[in-house]
Amino acid sequence: MTGKFISFEGPDGAGKTSVMAQIQADLEQQLGKARVMYTREPGGNHISEQIRRVLFDNQNTDMDGRTEALLFAAARRQHIVSEIIPGLKRNQVILCDRYVDSSIAYQGAGRHLGEQEIWQINQFAIDGLLPDLTIYLDVESELGLRRIAEHRSDQVNRLDKEQLSFHRTVRKSYLRLQQESPERIKLIDAGQPLDKVINDVKQTIHTKFPDLF
Ligand SMILES: Nc1ncnc2c1ncn2[C@@H]1O[C@H](COP(=O)(O)OP(=O)(O)OP(=O)(O)O)[C@@H](O)[C@H]1O
Ligand SMILES: [Mg+2]
Repeated sequence: MTGKFISFEGPDGAGKTSVMAQIQADLEQQLGKARVMYTREPGGNHISEQIRRVLFDNQNTDMDGRTEALLFAAARRQHIVSEIIPGLKRNQVILCDRYVDSSIAYQGAGRHLGEQEIWQINQFAIDGLLPDLTIYLDVESELGLRRIAEHRSDQVNRLDKEQLSFHRTVRKSYLRLQQESPERIKLIDAGQPLDKVINDVKQTIHTKFPDLF
């Protein structure tokens, strides 16, 4: 496998989608569209879509937390097999919007299922396939939530205490993960203006992969 696997992580409102759109456009400019893949789980394959339907079915209000975590891990596995591994074999640069670190931060820490436990079930799912590089967009919790409230009309326009403490727990978990794996996970200050964030991300990618940017 000769491609490059780059995941983007960070709490809600960190700017992952905004940053990735520009990174994708610039990489396509440099390498051509065929060499770049943007993806996010479950990634459009028909098996993961079926799992997703179970996960988001409004009737499944009684779903157990561990069941949910296992289903996410199962969808991740299929996404790896159907999208990521074939892309790496085609020598693509894969930009993945959230990956295993999101499960650890959101389900392990945020939902109190245990970071170690979520890591264990995901190890089985990913079978050793960690990203070559993970861009962690770090944003202060109030700012991340404020961005979502201000810019997105489809979300409730207020910040409650529960949202804030959940967001803070998720961020703390991300920061721990970054400290544990400083070689793989690179922290970017996402509280800066968007163009500055994008610039820092490009530099970080370039440092790791000198032939990019
Ligand atoms: N650096 C920035 N400065 C100011 N506003 C920003 C910045 N980055 C993103 N935004 C704005 O904040 C909002 C959330 O950004 P975005 O959707 O990219 O975040 P995200 O990390 O993908 O969030 P989610 O996890 O919910 O998908 C958008 O309206 C975006 O325009
Ligand atoms: Mg997003």
